[in-house]
Amino acid sequence: MKQQQKVSVCCCLGLLVVALAAALKEKEKEQVLWSKSWLDLADKDAADSASSALPAQTQTQPPLNLMVPLTLINSAASKGAVCLDGTLPGYHLHPGYGSGANSWLIQLEGGGWCNSIRNCVYRKTTRRGSSKFMEKQLPFTGILSNKAEENPDFFNWNRVKLRYCDGASFSGDSQNEAAQLHFRGQRIWLAAMEELMSKGMQKADQALLSGCSAGGLASILHCDEFQDLFPETTRVKCLSDAGMFLDAIDVSGGHTLKNLFAGVVSLQEVQKNLPKTCIDHLDPTSCFFPQNLVANVKTPMFLLNAAYDAWQVQASLAPTSADPRGLWSACKSNHALCNSSQIQFFQDFRNQMLNAVRDFSMSTKNGLFINSCFAHCQSERQDTWFADDSPVLGNRAIALSVGDWYFDRLPVKAIDCAYPCDNTCHNLMFK
Ligand SMILES: *[C@@H]1O[C@H](CO)[C@@H](O)[C@H](O)[C@H]1NC(C)=O
Repeated sequence: MKQQQKVSVCCCLGLLVVALAAALKEKEKEQVLWSKSWLDLADKDAADSASSALPAQTQTQPPLNLMVPLTLINSAASKGAVCLDGTLPGYHLHPGYGSGANSWLIQLEGGGWCNSIRNCVYRKTTRRGSSKFMEKQLPFTGILSNKAEENPDFFNWNRVKLRYCDGASFSGDSQNEAAQLHFRGQRIWLAAMEELMSKGMQKADQALLSGCSAGGLASILHCDEFQDLFPETTRVKCLSDAGMFLDAIDVSGGHTLKNLFAGVVSLQEVQKNLPKTCIDHLDPTSCFFPQNLVANVKTPMFLLNAAYDAWQVQASLAPTSADPRGLWSACKSNHALCNSSQIQFFQDFRNQMLNAVRDFSMSTKNGLFINSCFAHCQSERQDTWFADDSPVLGNRAIALSVGDWYFDRLPVKAIDCAYPCDNTCHNLMFK
């Protein structure tokens, strides 16, 4: 809505602004694309099409964005650290300078999961399962931006986007010979860290592991391993953006997301790499849920999440498989179309979210930004990370909140009041 208004205002202002309007239109298109790929998940075969439950990226980008080339990890092959189809994994690195020359930000890319032979085989034909199909360069925006005015605390750090091509949040380790599938997420993680250490990360005095969505879950799963790479003198912290996937009951009383995770964990043998502290007392699938992990992560961590995470609403709470008559279609595409009992369902989900982070939030080392929005991945997009009208809690935008926590300038434990009290949200809407 906001964007539509901006576009029409901009159009009166002449040439320069036409480009801007086009850029904004591009963003709208992106939102439509999101809806299409998310609705696939909701098709008859919910668990089986999980592979498509990921935000599509448009190829066309506003011209002013920094574009950073893809580097393949040649040393990965001998370690068996390969994408689903056996191709090399890759990353995008933009070097730091000045005060950021020895500071490293690693962002783990997201993009759903694959939980069956069928949808993992499908992934081999996409960038989510093969570096053959990865973009040769990607725009660095939001937390990856190189401009101080867009990214005040991390703009001059070494910034890395590690591509996601294993389908199990960088945590599986197995294979399926009949289907020629390599499930090597954990090895990709290790090979990438080794490569980056050799490119200067071993001299880091500051490091931050981040990631969004499936990458936000990966950031939680690998946080303590990340810290173990460095000496105690290095300031190491982790940020999980939209990674708080809840083991929640869907609108028909089922466990859509738990069923999906069960498939990912068993197919890719993720249990080998889940924290012992959890595996000791819970089943492996439960130990893939952050609610059973975050309180036990030793490294300082920041949870950034919308209380009504748009992906979870679409794909976990009200997928078409749980709503065959489409009673939730209007509501899940636009929260303004929900009736009072539907809103109540979302409020209950928010309460589960707050319960899930309660113990975590008691530790002084941790940070939180849980805003009452229908959003997903707020650190990667410039409009939600740091812009004139970006979301705030306590008057602080997300970029400043994460920076205040990372540098110990201020404690950040920001939890919003319940919907609809926040008028700074950039809610995702679906057509
Ligand atoms: C809200 O919509 C749902 C789905 O159509 C329906 O089952 C429910 O009765 C409605 N609640 C109210 C209060 O109108």
